[in-house]
Amino acid sequence: MAPRYAAPREAKLTLPELPELKRQRRRIVMVTAYDAPSGRLADEAGVDLVLVGDSAAMTVLGHDSTVPATVEELLVLTRAVTRGARRPLVIADMPFGSFQVSDESALENAIRFVKEGGADAVKLEGAGATLSRVRALVGAGIPVMGHVGLTPQSATMLGGFRAQGRTAAKADRLYADALALEEAGCFAVVLEAVPAPVAARVTDALSVPTIGIGAGADCDGQVLVWHDLLGLYDGPAPRFVKRYADVGGETVRALRAYAADVREGSFPEEQHTYSMPEEELALFEARFAAAAPRR
Ligand code: KIV
Repeated sequence: MAPRYAAPREAKLTLPELPELKRQRRRIVMVTAYDAPSGRLADEAGVDLVLVGDSAAMTVLGHDSTVPATVEELLVLTRAVTRGARRPLVIADMPFGSFQVSDESALENAIRFVKEGGADAVKLEGAGATLSRVRALVGAGIPVMGHVGLTPQSATMLGGFRAQGRTAAKADRLYADALALEEAGCFAVVLEAVPAPVAARVTDALSVPTIGIGAGADCDGQVLVWHDLLGLYDGPAPRFVKRYADVGGETVRALRAYAADVREGSFPEEQHTYSMPEEELALFEARFAAAAPRR
């Protein structure tokens, strides 16, 4: 099948290219994906980074938070995405509980995402104790993306799904956390639900790229959740979501048309049906010739 979009890059993106993109002020495009088709479509569209987010717990597994996501579930999704996305860097989100306990268990789980999932890198939420995990993983050769601001795995501690860093003291903390993540070895840092001026200061201060989601236009890149971007998630959308399509609405339209066709007998048609050689059909039908008429 011919690609639907011109792919801007022939070869796989490499990690050292990311700070280079920042220096050149070429904005980085990241999107989440959770299966092989979405990985392939993101690749075809020329997306730079694909995140197998623990948002999968909400978008594809039907939970009402990201907390229940497990390593096993995200491993299945990561494997599928890496089969579809060839050129983008694929980052696996480490779910809640997979890196909080110790550096050792974080490393064991991260190794699974790389070896079994085929991920190029992993993402960890938070700073504080996460810094030691970042050092352990990077020390073992696993690239790590950081994530500060609204970190959904600890939303309860943060007072819910709300913007972070909105006082000078909290903005200072967030700024220091982002710097500490770079210092610990992160190759990029996600800033989620952070006032734009704070994100701009952090972006200026870091030499690795910032990837914003609800963090204004001055970040080095942007990320959106697949289902939000395409209109597939029917829960309440945060302020920072821009919906680029109504794939959910279009899907319901198509399913209704299919259901109507089936019910009125107009699907399948001739072109959807297999034939067989006349003489074989005649032989087959001969068996029924003497039998009672069919209904
Ligand atoms: O899980 C996720 O989708 C994320 C992005 C919102 C950054 O962490």
